[in-house]
Amino acid sequence: VANAIELFHNFSLVHDDIMDNAPLRRGTPTIHVQYNMPTAILAGDVLCIYAYRQLAHIGNPQHLKAIYPVFNETAIQVCEGQQMDMDFEAQPNTTLSDYITMITLKTSVLLACALKIGALLGGSLAYNAQKLYEFGKCLGIAFQLQDDYLDSFGAMELTGKKTGGDINANKKTYLLTHALNHANSAQLDTLKSLHPQTGEEKINHITHLFRQTGADTACLAEVKQYTATALQALEQVAIPAARKATLFQFANMLLNREG
Ligand code: IPE
Ligand code: MG
Ligand code: MG
Ligand code: MG
Repeated sequence: VANAIELFHNFSLVHDDIMDNAPLRRGTPTIHVQYNMPTAILAGDVLCIYAYRQLAHIGNPQHLKAIYPVFNETAIQVCEGQQMDMDFEAQPNTTLSDYITMITLKTSVLLACALKIGALLGGSLAYNAQKLYEFGKCLGIAFQLQDDYLDSFGAMELTGKKTGGDINANKKTYLLTHALNHANSAQLDTLKSLHPQTGEEKINHITHLFRQTGADTACLAEVKQYTATALQALEQVAIPAARKATLFQFANMLLNREG
């Protein structure tokens, strides 16, 4: 089941790189760049089919009955989140609340689903499975906020992705959403005039505006806040603390990641 989730995740990334016009993933050229578009579409499709083939290995019918709907609901939500992400590119502005809904769907529910499915397979109480789901959801939101931050402020050698891709694509990341909602009228004019452009000049200019409007520090503060909320949910999982140590470490590792 862990493999199924990993395969589904990789399927979503192969197609995401097409949608985002991304040249680099994990430090190597993306599939559509290295091969071609039809190959990337089909490779993604096959990864998704592999995920379902993997799920079919679940021998226990009770387990399959419990897990299949969680997996399917999550897979649909990821696609819905991706659609919102693409729709937002063309919108002049988005609210912070729309942004959080979008990243909850495209990113965080998969982590939440992985934890919940693990809990269900391990025979946990419904209460604990739900608390683990909440932990994953908040941690996933923190993860995507950090992903947005690193897309503009990270180092390519560490992220394995091309820095500034979100800016070029006019992605309504946390950074841009915050900047648009806090810019003065001159900064707003600059942001608007840069909207149709692409290239290094645009990336440098907008990165500078993110700093000027405090979007960078606000984003990192949100990462901390959502991680803290995630850890509260993990605290509430009613099992001995020692058995949660790996998940606490995992959350703290994500908080400090640079890639
Ligand atoms: C992708 O979000 C989410 C999914 C693949 C479902 P991003 O587009 O921000 O991810 P990266 O930055 O390309 O890894
Ligand atoms: Mg992407
Ligand atoms: Mg994307
Ligand atoms: Mg990203």
